[in-house]
Amino acid sequence: MHAFSFHNPCQIEFGAGQIAKLAQLIPAQARVLLLYGGGSIKHNGAYDQICSALKQHHWREFSGIEPNPEFETLMQAVQFARNEQLDYIVAVGGGSVIDGAKFVAAAVPHNGDCWLIIGNRTPLSTALPLAAVLTLPATGSESNFAAVISRRETNDKLSFKNPLVFPKLAILDPTLTYSLPARQVGNGIVDAFVHTTEQYLTYPNEARVQDRLAEGILQTLIEIGPITLAEPNNYDARANLMWAANQALYGMVGLGQPQDWASHAMGHELTILFGLDHARTLAIVLPALWRYRLQSKQAKLAQYGRRVWGLNGSDAQVANAAIDKTADFFQQMGLPTQLSAYSIDADEAANGVAAQLIRHQRLKLGEKQDLTPDDCRAILITAA
Ligand code: NZQ
Ligand code: ZN
Repeated sequence: MHAFSFHNPCQIEFGAGQIAKLAQLIPAQARVLLLYGGGSIKHNGAYDQICSALKQHHWREFSGIEPNPEFETLMQAVQFARNEQLDYIVAVGGGSVIDGAKFVAAAVPHNGDCWLIIGNRTPLSTALPLAAVLTLPATGSESNFAAVISRRETNDKLSFKNPLVFPKLAILDPTLTYSLPARQVGNGIVDAFVHTTEQYLTYPNEARVQDRLAEGILQTLIEIGPITLAEPNNYDARANLMWAANQALYGMVGLGQPQDWASHAMGHELTILFGLDHARTLAIVLPALWRYRLQSKQAKLAQYGRRVWGLNGSDAQVANAAIDKTADFFQQMGLPTQLSAYSIDADEAANGVAAQLIRHQRLKLGEKQDLTPDDCRAILITAA
């Protein structure tokens, strides 16, 4: 197990009706900016509950943050917050709104070019406080300090990380997810699954607690995935999905572990080039990546196959079967694992992603920092 440092300052309020706590948890003198997306919060009860919780506060709203939040839209929110002298952000939505809110929190007090915040190209000295009300369990953004922002004008989808943008508060109410379309539920399950494997499925590292945390999250997602899809109002299934997705990227799974974020690196390029939902890119990339890296990942794939899927046989047999099981599971969740399902030409995708990775200086990916853009091109060709 490698050395590590861990601190997560986010206060989590979990359960039905927890939005009401914002009334007390947000300082009375705060001037609140409510940020949300395309309007789903008006249909799942979140907006009404927020209005009620904030009735003693001064607050204004900014809506229209799109999936894969856009820099241009977010800069309008930054200008709005500056004009209105707002100083506390409440983000209500999925990963896109919460990521967008992290950017706004950092950008409002920032002097200088805010685009440089993305990619951590400029230091930050402060950020507005942020509360996240989660409506789509998937990214873990509600209690981590990462954000992914897109700029279609320049074909960039890039992240930034800074402890200053840790949400102070996260409200996790599973009933807010009842209104999710099946596509977004499936996306959330697969995104949480891949976050877990990217911090786990590398090589043996004697991190037994972290391994078993990962395996517990994966088993939970496999168990509750079909129920969550079949029974939208099943509180226990939604609650377990919400907590599993949170824990997948809360910070504990990957402590002291080698990590392999190559699927996300390739996935972000596929989203910006072809418009695929974030999780849908991962469902295509991950099985293909594992097949390509079978040798170097075999020991961990075999551990995963035995413990998570209950498979038997030699390491090689179990590793291969575990990849097949994973791909089947993604398909069962409604996410295709081939580019052809979206009528995307594999050569075009492979060359496009490789070129983007080079442009973004993502030249050495994977747990051993030895996966090159050429390897990524080869992986995507196998996902035809
Ligand atoms: O915009 P609204 O109307 O709210 O609709 C959203 C959106 O269209 C809808 N939705 C959300 N909650 C709903 C709902 N519809 C009905 N009922 C509800 N309760 O779902 C659609 C997708 O929302 P989005 O926020 O885009 O999805 P997700 O949570 O999957 O977030 C994806 C974004 O997060 C980034 C991704 O790259 C992508 O940009 N990620 C952020 C990470 C992080 N900060 O740690 C890590 C992830 O790996 C990921 O990269
Ligand atoms: Zn993800």
